[in-house]
Amino acid sequence: MTTSTIVGNWKMNTTLASAEILAYGIRDMRVVDGSVDIIICPPYVSLDRVSRIVSGSHIRVGAQDVHPESSGAFTGEVSPDMIAEVADFVIVGHSERRQLFSESDEFIGRKVVASLNAGLKPILCVGESLEDRRAGRAEEVVRSQLLNSLAGIEDVDGILVAYEPVWAIGTGEAANPQIAQYMLGTIRFALKSNFGAIADSVPCLYGGSVNADNVQDFVREPDIDGALVGGASLDAQSFAAIVARAAEVAG
Ligand code: 13P
Repeated sequence: MTTSTIVGNWKMNTTLASAEILAYGIRDMRVVDGSVDIIICPPYVSLDRVSRIVSGSHIRVGAQDVHPESSGAFTGEVSPDMIAEVADFVIVGHSERRQLFSESDEFIGRKVVASLNAGLKPILCVGESLEDRRAGRAEEVVRSQLLNSLAGIEDVDGILVAYEPVWAIGTGEAANPQIAQYMLGTIRFALKSNFGAIADSVPCLYGGSVNADNVQDFVREPDIDGALVGGASLDAQSFAAIVARAAEVAG
């Protein structure tokens, strides 16, 4: 795959006003030559406004989570159809959801199915904890998160997968690119074994302390098609620099 995908996960940051400024900033950098797919994921309350700002540009928008039901008595939740009105993508199974909100693979799997049914492209996150890695079970944990979260689907067309080791998120200590390649190679192999050749066209991303200085080391690896960026996506210039560096490799 020659196109890179760079996703900015803004997490629980930005006000409506600062989200607007950030979206204009990213849109107006115009650093891209078409070899990088750019997706930005603001908080729910800013989705509509950010979508309008980037509409007509090469930047697309995603939500950070979704509830699997289409409507009903689920106070505080947002359905796939609601998101589909303002975004094309949705992050599901982020490790912060798994850890802080006790989300299971089964629940995440329902989100994957519901998102696809609503026409959204899910960005399914998987990743082991430091404890898992130290205990030598990183591959096993990631493979089981992946396959259990995809249990309800027959076709992975339209899905993106992000490998985000928990120990690399927000720590400034990105994974070694060889480790990331090994884990994403394992993910690709599991996808191929279960879903066939279509796995070759599933964008597989690395996430965890990605910045402009290290992004090329990741996207040069054969099974890494882009990056899921947290902290460095909150500043238009640093995000644009990541996109520009990825474009140098992809182009
Ligand atoms: P950081 O880039 O801040 O490490 O966050 C990664 C992440 O969790 C993106 O979803």
